[in-house]
Amino acid sequence: MQMFETTTFTTERLRMRPLTALDAAALFEVFSDPEVMRYWSCAPWTELKQADEYIDNATQDLAAGSMLRVAIEVAASGKVVGQLALHHFDEQNRRCEIGYALGRAAWGKGYMTEAITSMLDHAFAELPLNRIEADVDPRNAASMQALARLGFVHEGLLRERWIVAGEVCDTAFYGLLKSDWDARPR
Ligand SMILES: CC(C)(COP(=O)(O)OP(=O)(O)OC[C@H]1O[C@@H](n2cnc3c(N)ncnc32)[C@H](O)[C@@H]1OP(=O)(O)O)[C@@H](O)C(=O)NCCC(=O)NCCS
Repeated sequence: MQMFETTTFTTERLRMRPLTALDAAALFEVFSDPEVMRYWSCAPWTELKQADEYIDNATQDLAAGSMLRVAIEVAASGKVVGQLALHHFDEQNRRCEIGYALGRAAWGKGYMTEAITSMLDHAFAELPLNRIEADVDPRNAASMQALARLGFVHEGLLRERWIVAGEVCDTAFYGLLKSDWDARPR
């Protein structure tokens, strides 16, 4: 069990903070978009109550210390444009996974790179982590580009790891070590 002392991060343009019930409509907008969900591990949401359940689970997991999921809010407008999470913490091996999504209108602005950089600075400095992993569909070029920009290393291909709405998908597996992050040019 991992307790999170810091759950709010700010950058030049963004504020990351725990999800609240008021974020349901904004999250639904993101997760009901088939283009956003094209390479996600489940089908697009069809009902607002899926957003409510997602937020309830995130709130419980945050309190239990098993997942750090935050809303990504544009500081200037207060609009929630996506979410970012560290999850599947493995205490013995000091690793976890990262997951993220932005609404389509927020793509191509560097928001995710900015949000993940802030979270990784925090994660490697304050949490007992040695390694962070990402599981990406190899057709998801935008996500792989974002990971490469952050210094994640493409470590291999896991074949037919997912079956989403009947579609069999591979995983491009990425890893980032604390030593990679610390050595990264700023
Ligand atoms: C994955 C995802 C978050 C990437 O979004 P993105 O907008 O491409 O990524 P970033 O926020 O880091 O933006 C980077 C782009 O913004 C551009 N950009 C514009 N202004 C910028 C700025 N001030 N700083 C940095 N980059 C900037 C960059 O040039 C870059 O474009 P490029 O990749 O064509 O070179 C997005 O495609 C998404 O949410 N997809 C759906 C959900 C998903 O697949 N999640 C991942 C599952 S593994």
